Amino acid sequence: MTENNANSPASEPSSPSHSATARRAGPLLGLMDVPGDKSISHRALMLGALAVGTTHIEGLLEGDDIHATANALRAMGITVVQDAPGVWHVDGVGVGGLHAPDDVLDLGNSGTSARLLCGLLAGHGFTAIMTGDDSLRKRPMNRVLDPLTQMGVRVETREAGQMPISFTGADMLLPIIYTLPVPSAQVKSAVLLAGLHAPGQTTVIEPIATRDHTERMLTHMGAVIDITESSEGRRITITGQGELSPASVTVPSDPSSAAFPAVAATIVPDSVVTLEGIGMNPARVGIFKSLVDMGASIEKTNPREESGEPLADLKIRGSALTGAKIPASRAASMIDEYPVLAMAAACAIGTSRFEGVGELRVKESDRLATLEAGLRACGVKVETDADSMTIEGCGGPPPGGATIATSLDHRIAMSFLVLGLATEKPVKIDDIRPSKTSFPDFAESMRCLGADIREAS
Ligand code: S3P
Repeated sequence: MTENNANSPASEPSSPSHSATARRAGPLLGLMDVPGDKSISHRALMLGALAVGTTHIEGLLEGDDIHATANALRAMGITVVQDAPGVWHVDGVGVGGLHAPDDVLDLGNSGTSARLLCGLLAGHGFTAIMTGDDSLRKRPMNRVLDPLTQMGVRVETREAGQMPISFTGADMLLPIIYTLPVPSAQVKSAVLLAGLHAPGQTTVIEPIATRDHTERMLTHMGAVIDITESSEGRRITITGQGELSPASVTVPSDPSSAAFPAVAATIVPDSVVTLEGIGMNPARVGIFKSLVDMGASIEKTNPREESGEPLADLKIRGSALTGAKIPASRAASMIDEYPVLAMAAACAIGTSRFEGVGELRVKESDRLATLEAGLRACGVKVETDADSMTIEGCGGPPPGGATIATSLDHRIAMSFLVLGLATEKPVKIDDIRPSKTSFPDFAESMRCLGADIREAS
């Protein structure tokens, strides 16, 4: 250790810690108010911006990712206003009505903002420069830029298709028929949003179905959209240059965020937690199926529908879990939930294997790598390869007692805090701030159930 002296920069004040630590305590009990769905919130703002008139939104997620979309839309001339907590309105300008932004659009950590906005901008003949934080600037953009370039967009990117990008849309786009090379709702949505601006019909074929919130909301707002099953997969055809009608949108609670208290309630003995109004879109509920396959107790009641999306209430009780093989066919329906499912697998009896999960390498972090490193530090045996992850469950509380590098990844941060509620020794994460991207009051909401999560002050 070096000693301070007059020439040493160590006399400068140290930067504040944003770490947080989770410890075992009593059972988790009560009702948690889970924030609004991130995917649906982005789409409500963006489609609202393209409608003719005012779209009213209730239950909007007020996380950093959604603020990134709202601010980008404001920078292009859209009025986006918070009327009360969770209650917002957007004054739409019609398809093709955005203005050129006069500064760089900084999309922070939000891949969904970046990729869907490319689709939105494709039909506008102006240039926008887009960038993001250290995590977003590493993520692949070519998967959206390839089809949009085929439609007539011009793009300059850094190295391997990474942001910052300079994006120039076209007033006259070419409609295309595009088969998704990777199962990605962001790519599908970007092409459909571009197709909304193109003359004639634009078709996306998805061999593996992904979340269909864009299609549902387009239908809700009166777009001409046709969906059929074919031998190649799901064919979604949008007829461009029509008008979108403003609509009232009620955003369900996010099943991806609900997954954190659901896993926590499952692995902390004697817990009973209720989560109300959770989105039950069939393309999102793989996590709950997988937990039930592993022995979790999840009771679903009061199924209903709001703004074209199914939702229900869930009651979760603490349960002993058994390892399971989660097939590749389920990956698209729970792609964001593998990190927290890995925590359940670490507590289970026996081995769990997640197959077909290579996409996790290009999320907010390389999630297979961050999970592998974090679980090993907590004393859990884990192996990964390009496309799969195998976890040997501890058959009860894993050792814990580690500090986890979260790599600006909200779901890694929240997953390891959930694990720390069950481990023998506490689990610390280096930075809780990224959780604000999708779950602004995560630690406080967990504490209300009785969780011992302390933030550095
Ligand atoms: C999202 C789609 C998924 C998901 C992301 C949100 C969306 O990404 O991981 O958090 O809102 O369309 P991919 O499209 O890359 O699979």
